[in-house]
Amino acid sequence: MKVPLFDMTRQYEKLRKEILKNLDAVFASGRVILGDNVKMLEENVQKYLITKHAIGVASGSDALLIAVKALNFEKGDYIITTPYTFFATASSITRNGLKPLFVDITEKDYDIDLGKVEDILQNHPEKEKIKGFIPVHLFGKSMDLKRLKQIKEKYGIKIIEDNAQSIGAREQIDGKEVYAGTVGDVGTISFFPTKNLGGYGDGGMIITDNDDLAARMRKLRVHGAAKKYHHDEVGFNSRLDEVQAAILKIKLKELEKYIEKRIKKAENYAELFKKHNLEDKIKYPEAKTDKSHVYHQYVVELKKGNRDRLKDFLKEKGIGTSIYYPVGLHSQECFKELGYSEDDFPVTQHATKTTLALPIFPELKKKEQEYVVENIKKYFEEEEK
Ligand SMILES: Cc1ncc(COP(=O)(O)O)c(C=O)c1O
Repeated sequence: MKVPLFDMTRQYEKLRKEILKNLDAVFASGRVILGDNVKMLEENVQKYLITKHAIGVASGSDALLIAVKALNFEKGDYIITTPYTFFATASSITRNGLKPLFVDITEKDYDIDLGKVEDILQNHPEKEKIKGFIPVHLFGKSMDLKRLKQIKEKYGIKIIEDNAQSIGAREQIDGKEVYAGTVGDVGTISFFPTKNLGGYGDGGMIITDNDDLAARMRKLRVHGAAKKYHHDEVGFNSRLDEVQAAILKIKLKELEKYIEKRIKKAENYAELFKKHNLEDKIKYPEAKTDKSHVYHQYVVELKKGNRDRLKDFLKEKGIGTSIYYPVGLHSQECFKELGYSEDDFPVTQHATKTTLALPIFPELKKKEQEYVVENIKKYFEEEEK
């Protein structure tokens, strides 16, 4: 049996007719940049996430870049973030002439450690230069939104929530449904094909409740021009295109169903790990059904054995896996001048060596999940021989 880490084609089979119909309409209209599809998708995302503004851009990376620029930090300001994330989180800081201040993650779920963040906000020798914070809702799980809100208010720092991976993750706060990405000053989303709401190419979105910020970011996506050919400032060429929006519009309608299916897969994995007595060997995500976790990635951690050997073993059995992330951002060659050493963040360091993402997507079959877990069991049996 072959079990891919992710398979777009199974989804396409189901949506093919509708996708081709929408694409045909885009091509026939001759309007392929910033037309009705982008506008409609922006409105629909706005409604879905209960936010005031949504701005389609070319990628999740650009969403971060534009958001950081729009917040008017000053050259040399520090922005707190996690070293255990995709590269774009931190490059949005350095590309804007700012300094990432990395803070280690928690062992529990690999989120940036908010206790340590507060400690740094109170005790860092240059704490007055810490102006921003980019938390990441990692692997589909919403961070503690209530606490993020409190940190923003208590310390007066700007928060950009990197929600590239977790669209639709939510929490109840004071009896209200609050979505990841909507408690900071700005939230950013990625529509990269593998994401829970993935396009057929690059795409991204920025969300905010702040009218002035929204107007500024709309301008920044078209070279800083509020009026065509009149540039108030130097911006970017970063627009979500009509082709992507026409497809994403269809998939947004399906997103809740996809999330529910992903939750079922997470529950099933948890049951299988228990059934095969793997709990002393594998740490796996809590199976939550309240949609605070939308299981974008299903990342397990080896308590015993060797992660790389398990990866190779599963590959031989036809099972796709991936490592998110093999290198902490503080150890990246391009960030050498920030002066971090590899062991500055022991929890991150440990996670880079012990975690492995297993196949998860809405169309993954029960028997495929069984095959994955049975082979993890076999790996440990062979290790113990
Ligand atoms: C945490 C995180 N931030 C930012 C991005 C960048 O998004 P994109 O690939 O759409 O540029 C990604 C996507 O890979 C991500 O996972």
